[in-house]
Amino acid sequence: MTDSRLVALQVLLDVLDKGRSLDAALAGRETVFSEPRDRAFCRTLAYGVLREHRRLGALRDRLLAKPLRRRDQDLALVLELGLFQLIHLHTPPHAAVSETVALTRTCHKAWAGKLVNAVLRRFLREKTALTARVDRTPAVAASLPDWLYQRLATDWPQQLESLLAAQNQHAPMVLRVNRRRSTHKAYQARLAEAGLEAHPLPGFADALVLAQPTPVTDLPGFAQGDCSVQDGAAQLAADLLDPAAGDRVLDACAAPGGKAAHLLERADVTLVALDSDPSRLERLDATLKRVGVGARSMAADAAEPSSWWDDQPFDRILLDAPCSGSGVIRRHPDIKWLRRAEDIARLTALQGRLLHALWPLLRPGGRLVYATCSVLEAENEAQAAAFARGRDDLRVVEPTLPVGTRLRYGQQIRTGESGVDGFYYACFEKH
Ligand SMILES: C[S@@+](CC[C@H](N)C(=O)[O-])C[C@H]1O[C@@H](n2cnc3c(N)ncnc32)[C@H](O)[C@@H]1O
Repeated sequence: MTDSRLVALQVLLDVLDKGRSLDAALAGRETVFSEPRDRAFCRTLAYGVLREHRRLGALRDRLLAKPLRRRDQDLALVLELGLFQLIHLHTPPHAAVSETVALTRTCHKAWAGKLVNAVLRRFLREKTALTARVDRTPAVAASLPDWLYQRLATDWPQQLESLLAAQNQHAPMVLRVNRRRSTHKAYQARLAEAGLEAHPLPGFADALVLAQPTPVTDLPGFAQGDCSVQDGAAQLAADLLDPAAGDRVLDACAAPGGKAAHLLERADVTLVALDSDPSRLERLDATLKRVGVGARSMAADAAEPSSWWDDQPFDRILLDAPCSGSGVIRRHPDIKWLRRAEDIARLTALQGRLLHALWPLLRPGGRLVYATCSVLEAENEAQAAAFARGRDDLRVVEPTLPVGTRLRYGQQIRTGESGVDGFYYACFEKH
């Protein structure tokens, strides 16, 4: 049996100390598991501690007589792992405490066993008063860095509570049924035959929500491309672009290829799929191959069309822009700790550059969809407004989305609305 707690600790150190993404850290570490149950427990711990990191850290710091040394960062996380199990899991308290003490030995800090035992036992005694105390600071209660909490509070004063709650909840596993292979009713029946319960999402043409997450290898026909995993909000890009057979479509920031594959499943278009990151493009190529469609994929900077564009205008352009990812924190809780306040100005500048560079590539009558998985106004409505204002060859197309708030330029979906991720879409036509 592999020690799930030890691997979770290594994953947390990879993310919080080395700045690796949670996905990359898990991919690098999970290969040690032979038992799916151990792997699942490791994931529960790693996701859970990253979701609650600030709050758990605040509790830990109140329980320690003096702060831990920098080189004992692993012990700080051992304590967070212990507190997480005591607060959020059904592990019996004595087992959570003794397993966490045992973890000090496996991570070669046996000297700290007594300290860990004392801290966790004191927590059990003083839990109510301690949690009430740390939760007085709203950013700690929400387990967010101050800068991100403040931005969300400014952008969403009325909806803040529900938005914060949704960000710390587990996201459902959503499938996209490949229309070229079957209808989503027929695929739902195939899932049922395989013992997997799923239900449609009203207004989302190709989506099925699984009642329980499951490894993709258990999904009928997954390897053959009969379905893909993709949140409902991300599936709306294809509805808005609404390409027709024969259209020339540009997916300007295309990797790892979820939306590109969806577009190609929908219509016989000629797709140019661009991304500046060649390693992510490899994942796009693999995805398109799996679902049985093809595109011209290119590693290039979408903001510099002179280096890759052949002067043939596009009928449709999708700009699924690099962004804060603040709308998908429930799926990627590492975003809270890996993003920095100063990233937002850099990202909004890049998004603006991309919009300006791509607009001339659209034919008159063509349509550009701007999308982000962000809930920050600066990346979304403010960005769309700055781009559209004063541009007399542009018409704002009202997005007809089944979810979200209609704004002057685009539509904002808050995380958790209709159960989907936080997303923003704006749709512009050229005349
Ligand atoms: C939100 S992700 C795209 C997700 C993708 N559309 C999908 O549905 O799977 C943004 C992508 O933009 C790429 N990117 C960032 N800057 C870029 C640039 N200047 N030109 C092209 N791609 C860029 C990143 O490498 C990243 O893969």
